[in-house]
Amino acid sequence: MVGVCVVQPLRAGVYELMSIAVPPSHQKFGYGTALLRWIIDFFRKSGARQIEVGTGTFGYQLAFYQRHGFRVTGIDRDFFIRNYPEPIFEDGIQLFDMLRLTLRYPGSGT
Ligand SMILES: CC(C)(COP(=O)(O)OP(=O)(O)OC[C@H]1O[C@@H](n2cnc3c(N)ncnc32)[C@H](O)[C@@H]1OP(=O)(O)O)[C@@H](O)C(=O)NCCC(=O)NCCS
Repeated sequence: MVGVCVVQPLRAGVYELMSIAVPPSHQKFGYGTALLRWIIDFFRKSGARQIEVGTGTFGYQLAFYQRHGFRVTGIDRDFFIRNYPEPIFEDGIQLFDMLRLTLRYPGSGT
């Protein structure tokens, strides 16, 4: 296994990609892109209207999602302060705000 993802339903026709990860030893080989494509196709075929994702890391992950059609739809300010008891750091940067991105399926009427 070289990748995992967690998707949960939010409301009718709307799903949230809660987590997607490939271990560092296997990153940059295209597995993450293949998995994200699979998720997008799977939920399109299931009749979903949109997929949302939230990220506190505004690095390469942003391009990873934007390349597949995700657009910025909001900022949840201080999300990581309000929801976690301890500070979280990624690449030495403390996470504060969650950027919300949404992929709307063409023709879904939203
Ligand atoms: C995001 C993630 C799932 C992508 O998986 P992957 O198998 O590396 O994806 P790909 O090989 O398809 O690469 C996708 C892009 O991400 C870039 N990338 C992947 N890992 C990277 C890293 N550690 N540092 C910088 N860029 C990275 C790749 O270079 C590629 O960009 P490019 O097409 O411009 O070259 C994986 O990097 C990961 O698990 N990261 C840590 C967890 C995480 O951040 N999850 C998302 C939370 S919002």
